[in-house]
Amino acid sequence: MPSETLTITDNRTGKSYEVPIQDETIRATDLRKIRVNPEDFGLMTYDPAFMNTAACKSTITFIDGDIGILNYRGYPIEQLAEQGSYLETAYLLWHGQLPTAAQLAAFTETINANLALPENFNRLFDGFGRDVHPMSLLMAGFAGLSSAYPDAKKVLDKECRTRQIYRGIAQAMTMGAWSYRHRKGLPMVAPRPDLSFAANFLYMLFEKVPDPRLARAVDVLFILHADHEQNCSTSTMRLVGSSQADPFSALSAAVAALYGPLHGGANEAVLKMLRQIGNVENIPSFIEKVKAGEGRLMGFGHRVYKNYDPRARIIKRTSEEVFEVTGKNPLLEVATELEKIALHDEYFIKRKLYPNVDFYSGVIYEALGFPTELFTVLFAIPRVSGWLSQWEELMCDEDQKIGRPRQIYLGEGKRDYVPVADRK
Ligand code: CMC
Repeated sequence: MPSETLTITDNRTGKSYEVPIQDETIRATDLRKIRVNPEDFGLMTYDPAFMNTAACKSTITFIDGDIGILNYRGYPIEQLAEQGSYLETAYLLWHGQLPTAAQLAAFTETINANLALPENFNRLFDGFGRDVHPMSLLMAGFAGLSSAYPDAKKVLDKECRTRQIYRGIAQAMTMGAWSYRHRKGLPMVAPRPDLSFAANFLYMLFEKVPDPRLARAVDVLFILHADHEQNCSTSTMRLVGSSQADPFSALSAAVAALYGPLHGGANEAVLKMLRQIGNVENIPSFIEKVKAGEGRLMGFGHRVYKNYDPRARIIKRTSEEVFEVTGKNPLLEVATELEKIALHDEYFIKRKLYPNVDFYSGVIYEALGFPTELFTVLFAIPRVSGWLSQWEELMCDEDQKIGRPRQIYLGEGKRDYVPVADRK
């Protein structure tokens, strides 16, 4: 028994139990020995929405939501956003260390060599109408990669996993660009290996080499979105991955989870909300509606951050650099004023609701010329590197098995089948 323990007294029986505490955590299965009768199942914890349950150990991302800290592999997000690049960050998340110059060059070369989608893949996209949401295309695209790369099924083979991780990081970007071109009815643009990952993405969208300041802004946004520990989509990636499904199937599920407006879909919802508010005079009445429970202030609040999301602060700064090139997005004034009013309002203060990553990202995306529907894809592209790093960690974790939550059954007891003719 470790030196730190917890003693629990079951007041139903008067018995006491000692359970080990490790890493500020007790093992839920240690509670199973707490039972009234020997044939009982034993005590469980009830934790809908996983408010206080750790489902894995991880060494990838650290968040302290109370003071607003986010580190990837120990490196503060502010330093990575200021000095690093997205591909360097993807390497870091996956391998645990920043790459040397030679490692980064080799990594970049392999990513570039994997950008092309499998042959005839355009037929998959052509099967969808022009008005399809790009996130649907991304979900379908990853599902398609699952059958295009049958070797991806060998999830217990490290070399094979490595191949899929390169493909996933690279082709997420290509599919993101395709989803935009498809909606516009434009032909696909071949990538240019001489451009950085973010510049290449912009080139594949708009068929024009971008202003380096704008490419840099997209690179920073990619760094900020690359990982965020065990959120809804990452947990989905891990849960599907735990069944030993291939990583592309798991990525398709993770994209589906990200699509929701309470998660990655919030960036699109924020922009729609700002447009609906229209101008600063309408903010007070909008805030009153939110406080009355008629909708949420999108881009505000977070399960983990009970302080300013550090990513939102960096995005706000980046937006100023973008607007120097593109001119100011008029919605910025609405967003800034909305933030100011909300941060001084008792409702938001009491609930510790602060701007999250999605609050300002849409305003930049719009200034960069991205249509609103593409916003969540812009979140998903870099998040693929985080999802795959988390998946690799899962596959190497000997504590893990297939994910399988328990339930509290509150339904009917056993009863006999009644033939349809006899039912009242
Ligand atoms: N606007 C107004 N009220 C809110 C908001 C909001 N955005 N977020 C939470 N609340 C209120 C909520 O009504 C509740 O009030 P009460 O205690 O009176 O019932 C209280 O704050 C606690 O909210 P909760 O829903 O229990 O908190 P949660 O941890 O389950 O939800 C959240 C977290 C992010 C889903 C939520 O804050 C939200 O819906 N925000 C808007 C959507 C959004 O911006 N999502 C992006 C999240 S960051 C990027 C990502 O991870 O994808």
